[in-house]
Amino acid sequence: MSNKLLDWIEYRIPMMRVAKMHAAEYPAPKNMNFWYVFGFLATIVLINQIVTGIWLTMSFEPSAERAFASVEYIMREVEYGYILRYMHSTGASAFFIVVYMHMFRGMIYGSYQKPRELLWVFGMFIYLALMAEAFMGYVLPWGQMSYWGAQVIVSLFGAIPVIGEDLVIWIQGDYVISGATLNRFFALHVIALPLVIVILVFLHIVALHEVGSNNPDGVEVKRKKGSLKEEEKTKWKMHEYYTNKYDIVDDVVPFFPHIVLKDLVAFTIFLLGFAYVLFFNPEMGGYFLEHPNFEHANPLKTPEHIFPVWYFTPFYAILKAVPDKLGGVIAMFAAIIMLVLLPWIDRGRVKSWRYRSGIHRYNLLVFAAVFVFLGYLGGTPQEPWKITASQICTFLYFGFFALLWLYSKNEKTKPLPERISK
Ligand code: HEM
Repeated sequence: MSNKLLDWIEYRIPMMRVAKMHAAEYPAPKNMNFWYVFGFLATIVLINQIVTGIWLTMSFEPSAERAFASVEYIMREVEYGYILRYMHSTGASAFFIVVYMHMFRGMIYGSYQKPRELLWVFGMFIYLALMAEAFMGYVLPWGQMSYWGAQVIVSLFGAIPVIGEDLVIWIQGDYVISGATLNRFFALHVIALPLVIVILVFLHIVALHEVGSNNPDGVEVKRKKGSLKEEEKTKWKMHEYYTNKYDIVDDVVPFFPHIVLKDLVAFTIFLLGFAYVLFFNPEMGGYFLEHPNFEHANPLKTPEHIFPVWYFTPFYAILKAVPDKLGGVIAMFAAIIMLVLLPWIDRGRVKSWRYRSGIHRYNLLVFAAVFVFLGYLGGTPQEPWKITASQICTFLYFGFFALLWLYSKNEKTKPLPERISK
């Protein structure tokens, strides 16, 4: 009976075929290591954010008068409300931890190189949408940091010549950050941006499955020579070929069960960390939920130190490193655009850092260290030496891309293996 029903559906819409081709039997390189679990984890966190977000919306009131109190109501009165809220706030930070690891994996294995440029660019668009989503979400509880954070970030648009000031009023929907701002940020946070993110993730996966996954060796997976019959060369047939004979001739394994099992191990470890934060340390010492945000927004009282949540602080440090406001805004956007352009800045042909030059590995590690240090500089109270340090780190940040562009053309690389490692 159920088979008949499935057949009936399958005849009209290729549900099982798509599920097989893009999930169960997706041909994954068999040398995928732990760096390859972060895409799966990002998907899980995305689902967590959407589901807990829907429940929070049921009790949240998006007005300047009621927002703060409604969050308190969720925490104290709504059944399991405190868990839902902490799942959502912890999920926001978890999202960025997972996505930063995911991006760094792309950098060390050259997953942005041809033919995966668009996959990377879609990833960067997701990252941008995620930053906007997190920023607007942070404004909603209407605490002190929500208010003043919004004030600092929205005022940045004021630095744009000619239209800046009008643009700020247009974004705020008022002459100051007010209930009108909160209300529109709510609309963008709960529907517009999640929709954009989900569509982008879909395109990200379509692009990935069109070109196939890269792997830690950065050499494309191979099949036994001549074993592909002419009539098998349509996409679907070729796919069946991968999965039926992977253990003899291919460098690939089907996603289920091989990769799913690896992902489940990662998921278990992730869940332990997540549960620890959720139940024992939901504020994470003020990193996941900042302390001034436990106070109601007060336009008359500026908090002693204003800085964004940890995942924005590297870019905030770049912003602060430039004395001129417009210059700072340009530097901050340029820092992100550099990442978008990475596939074209890197002119090398060898993908994985395993087979690239010493200078490349050194360059990447310095870049990662500089990024983390910028995060520290942007997330702690300002001191004179930190301005100088931010300027040096900003220089090193852009230096990474400049150096990469210079040496990648004629880089001395190691010989690539014929096949991927086991
Ligand atoms: C909501 C956020 C994201 C989700 C749900 C997501 C999901 C995924 C998934 C499921 C994969 C395949 C599994 C894996 O290789 O880990 C993947 C691969 C990839 N993602 Fe993402 N991703 C996200 C954000 C990003 C970002 C921000 C970037 C970079 C700018 C990015 C770049 C890539 C690249 C280059 C690959 C292919 C890696 C390879 O084959 O070596 N992704 N993504």
